[in-house]
Amino acid sequence: MIKSKNEAIVSQNYVPTNCEILSITTLTPSEKLFKIKMPNGKELGHMPGQFVQVSIPGLTEAPISVASSPTRKGYFELAVRNAGTLTGALHKLDEGDYLGIRGPFGSCFDIEAMKGKNLLLISGGCGLAPMRSLIQYCEDNIDEFENVKILYGAKNPEQMLFKDEIRQWEESRHFNCLYTVDEIKSGDNYKGKVGLITKLIPPLNIDKNNTIAVIIGPPVMYKFVIAELMKKGINEEQIIVSLERYMRCGIGKCGHCVIEHKYCCIDGPVFWLKDVMELKGAL
Ligand SMILES: Cc1cc2nc3c(=O)[nH]c(=O)nc-3n(C[C@H](O)[C@H](O)[C@H](O)COP(=O)(O)OP(=O)(O)OC[C@H]3O[C@@H](n4cnc5c(N)ncnc54)[C@H](O)[C@@H]3O)c2cc1C
Ligand code: FES
Repeated sequence: MIKSKNEAIVSQNYVPTNCEILSITTLTPSEKLFKIKMPNGKELGHMPGQFVQVSIPGLTEAPISVASSPTRKGYFELAVRNAGTLTGALHKLDEGDYLGIRGPFGSCFDIEAMKGKNLLLISGGCGLAPMRSLIQYCEDNIDEFENVKILYGAKNPEQMLFKDEIRQWEESRHFNCLYTVDEIKSGDNYKGKVGLITKLIPPLNIDKNNTIAVIIGPPVMYKFVIAELMKKGINEEQIIVSLERYMRCGIGKCGHCVIEHKYCCIDGPVFWLKDVMELKGAL
């Protein structure tokens, strides 16, 4: 039977696709990376910055950012923190198990606007998961961008995500990668910087006329990072933010994710700062 275009869209939006888990990697004591494939050799079809709604039949559903770039074919990855009902159940799954995926949903990073620009990719905590999708995209299309700087801040060494990849980004001739942790305790085998992520910005040499900054992190991070960037001459038209809000439907129907008149699930989660900075509760 041939489906009408409308039926196909409805099915993609509302009916989860059963996807197989190819591998599971422990990233930290509370985060795991799931490598997943769509059925029948299909690609997820996302762009960096978008998210999917992940479900387990009979349980519930949660939005999770895609952590891998669409340039890496045949699979996609999700970095999941064990935070509650669905994510706790995901952490109990094994390789070869199936989960439900709806999407991809939401806005993506404005890659066209970033082309030919210096990029400053700033993430805190779990924000490195969606940022990794963009970092991989830059790595695979490096000629399209000028200098790419990666800044990452974690609470402590144990909670740093993607430690092996951070080491590779540090050594890569394509990137400048700097990271810091808020605190260390005695016995931590950690040789990097200690302090808040905002401390990484003042020493940077930034070309204020040709730079786009992207910020993804916990809510508390945004206004302090934005203030440091503005001291460097970067303005709200050069800053992209990704905002996380409690979501239900993921497709603009339930109203759970609204910030004034913006729906985080369909207008966001990725926004130009100029479009949200005046909205109450956005930052
Ligand atoms: C766009 C987007 C991308 C995301 N990407 C990721 C990702 O890449 N990785 C990741 O690990 N997480 C990500 N999250 C967060 C994740 O969706 C949430 O942590 C989700 O609640 C987990 O579902 P759960 O069923 O496991 O937890 P829940 O059982 O929903 O509980 C998780 C926490 O949410 C609180 N909570 C429950 N209901 C509400 C409510 N109505 N309002 C406010 N708080 C509530 C609970 O008290 C608890 O502290 C993302 C969220 C969004 C919106
Ligand atoms: S999550 Fe339902 S409207 Fe955005």
